[in-house]
Amino acid sequence: RILILDFGSQYTQLIARRVREAGVYCELHPHDLDPQAIRDFGAKGVILSGSPQSVHAEDSPRAAPEVFELGVPVLGICYGMQTMAAQLGGQVAAADHKEYGYAQVRVRGHTALLRDIEDHASAEGYGLLDVWMSHGDRVETLPSGFRVICETDNAPLAGIADEERGFYGLQFHPEVTHTRQGQRILARFVHAICGCGEAWTPSNIIAESIAQVRTQIGDDQVLLGLSGGVDSSVVAALLHKAIGAQLTCVFVDNGLLRLDEGDQVMRTFARHMGVRVIRADAERRFLDRLRGVQDPEQKRKVIGNTFIDVFDEEASRLSNIQWLAQGTIYPDVIESAGAKTGKAKVIKSHHNVGGLPEEMNLKLLEPLRELFKDEVRRIGIELGLPSEMVQRHPFPGPGLGVRILGEVDKASADTLRLADHIFIEELRRAGLYDQVSQAFAVFLPVRSVGVVGDDRQYEPVVALRAVETVDFMTARWAHLPYDFLDTVCRRIVNEVKGVSRVVYDITGKPPGTIEWE
Ligand code: XMP
Repeated sequence: RILILDFGSQYTQLIARRVREAGVYCELHPHDLDPQAIRDFGAKGVILSGSPQSVHAEDSPRAAPEVFELGVPVLGICYGMQTMAAQLGGQVAAADHKEYGYAQVRVRGHTALLRDIEDHASAEGYGLLDVWMSHGDRVETLPSGFRVICETDNAPLAGIADEERGFYGLQFHPEVTHTRQGQRILARFVHAICGCGEAWTPSNIIAESIAQVRTQIGDDQVLLGLSGGVDSSVVAALLHKAIGAQLTCVFVDNGLLRLDEGDQVMRTFARHMGVRVIRADAERRFLDRLRGVQDPEQKRKVIGNTFIDVFDEEASRLSNIQWLAQGTIYPDVIESAGAKTGKAKVIKSHHNVGGLPEEMNLKLLEPLRELFKDEVRRIGIELGLPSEMVQRHPFPGPGLGVRILGEVDKASADTLRLADHIFIEELRRAGLYDQVSQAFAVFLPVRSVGVVGDDRQYEPVVALRAVETVDFMTARWAHLPYDFLDTVCRRIVNEVKGVSRVVYDITGKPPGTIEWE
């Protein structure tokens, strides 16, 4: 396994995902991880991430000296290379020209890291790599034992190595896709240089998790809140395989789900897979509690609290439950660890079953807490879940509750469900669904005039929203083809009673958020 020490670069999670893609297990920890924990980790190699900081700044972070005494290879990326160079006796200076974005580096010599990896061959016979740079400092003087392995015009020391000790530094970012050979370079580091095998595969992950869950749970009973979203669905499939009848799922239908969602969940899990799923039909209760509530945050609160009440009631009817399972995934774990040490930048509030484990004296079971989303999806497929379920766009916990602007009622929810369904169905039919990150319809309680046949209509408006994003923190509106939008609009106005007009949202995030409320 590989230890990644995080110095705060926005790309650190990408390093971890690339290493995992190479079939090697890795963990990401803060750069100031306790030296004893560094030794105990048992790493076959260490990667030092980039950082927005400068090595020159006072109090800028350093790697624990122990990292260089473990006797295993170390790869420093960007800031990671600079701090390694500075700590091992080299010199780092502020560069005259900061380098951001595309650059071409010339590969020097035959190092284990870069040998035979190139995008182009130069006329002079050395390899050229197209890479992504983002740095202000550069290494000026090599630490002893090191030599140059690649260069650019602006950074004569764009890559350095002490092959005897297995220490490598790259000024560019191999983890981002703009560095075309980046995945090969990282794979080379973990396989050839660190000697890690390719054991981290979906089937191995499943086998290991199953063994671990069985040991952890023994004969105990486990409860899971199943939402139909990717994470809880994969937990359900995994636990069903691991402990079968010891798992009970509760699915709360709040009346604010997508069209047929409840039936689909029951079909997939209860009927096809034989999972024990209790369906709590609570539409009436949610809508009653939402009556008269206009404010978005208040609606979120009401929906969240009602969810807990319903879930709680269902759970209290079951006897002898010892564990509550949750679909926590690795980015959540990293975020909350970062939150504790004050390092994480933005934290989303998660729609979890708050308070429940303590009140009911339940122990928490989180079988996905070491996995990234793409790994969760891959094991979902391997466990036999339908790919439409596993590749689904995210759906907010409060559901249509925050997509019906203002007060929520059943008629609006029914109208919105149909319009949303048509939009999604057409996206799938046009092969566009997987090209956008999230798409949905929004119900606007303003009325506009239209004509249908000879009749005048005065009905609400539906807005369509589709965005492209990697992290959901920023997003660009999807430039869907006009013909496609035309088809969707015609179908909605013709097939959904009570909609007079369809509009398309062309606001990015920022300044808009993805949801309308
Ligand atoms: P915004 O609207 O903040 O959305 O740009 C970013 C992502 O978060 C989802 N979202 C929520 N998810 N509970 C959730 O579970 C919520 O209250 C909530 N609000 C927004 C949104 O769908 C998008 O994917």
